[in-house]
Amino acid sequence: MVRTPHPTEQPVQAKINGITLAYNDQGTGLPIIFLHAFPLNRTMWAEQVKALSSQFRAITIDLRGHGESDAPLWHYTLDQAADDVIELLDHLSIRQAVFVGLSMGGYVLFALYRKYADRVQGLMLADTRAQADTAEGKEARFQMAQIAYKNGPPAIADIMLPKLLSPATIQTRPELVRRVRTMIEGTQVSGIAGDLMAMAERPDSIALLNQITCPTQIVVGEQDLATPPSDAKLMADRIPDARLTIIPGAAHLSNMEQPGLFNETIRSVVSNVMR
Ligand code: MLT
Repeated sequence: MVRTPHPTEQPVQAKINGITLAYNDQGTGLPIIFLHAFPLNRTMWAEQVKALSSQFRAITIDLRGHGESDAPLWHYTLDQAADDVIELLDHLSIRQAVFVGLSMGGYVLFALYRKYADRVQGLMLADTRAQADTAEGKEARFQMAQIAYKNGPPAIADIMLPKLLSPATIQTRPELVRRVRTMIEGTQVSGIAGDLMAMAERPDSIALLNQITCPTQIVVGEQDLATPPSDAKLMADRIPDARLTIIPGAAHLSNMEQPGLFNETIRSVVSNVMR
């Protein structure tokens, strides 16, 4: 039987800051905004939307350069991504929300908090880090942009998959691996290169951490090598009253590898916000 999608599951597009942004807006209640990792798109949050949209308003956004949003060939910054998100919330008449950002999504949240703290009711920083890139890290981004330009997104998928998923996931969950590969291969080179430049140029956010005053949950996959538990602990130590959850059986994409545990931590930050 072919299931007819619920009307709110349909992707919606809006003209934001001169480009088209795609998003999904599902459910009612407290808005939870989901910001995806590099070089993925909003569909990485499918398990979270499914579990949470019966109680909350789950909004997933394709950041500029990803998924069904425009990927202009130009200079990208994380501040610009944060501006896009806030302009979209203005368009939806949402004043405040809980924000969930994974990895690059977390970097966007630091930029967003710096400029728009009054819009943030609660934060979940997943598999991300507050430190800026090292000189070697910036060089690696430059090299990856060259690979994307010369060999295309499939070459980026080959490099990224072992960084995103645990060895056990790669060996035993081919469907999930395929989903992640499809997301990466569907990302335009302009978006990949734009993100790499934006991430290389991002400022250090360590000094911001003790200024974060909203309920904050830090989450990290136990086997995350890209942004390891030590980075998560650093954020949890410095953000006042932040909670830290380390998710076993997950690497970098902890929301996809262990959605049940990940969703519980979202419920926990939301219940702190609603207290
Ligand atoms: C991500 O998952 O968004 C990236 O691994 C972030 C990064 O490359 O720093």
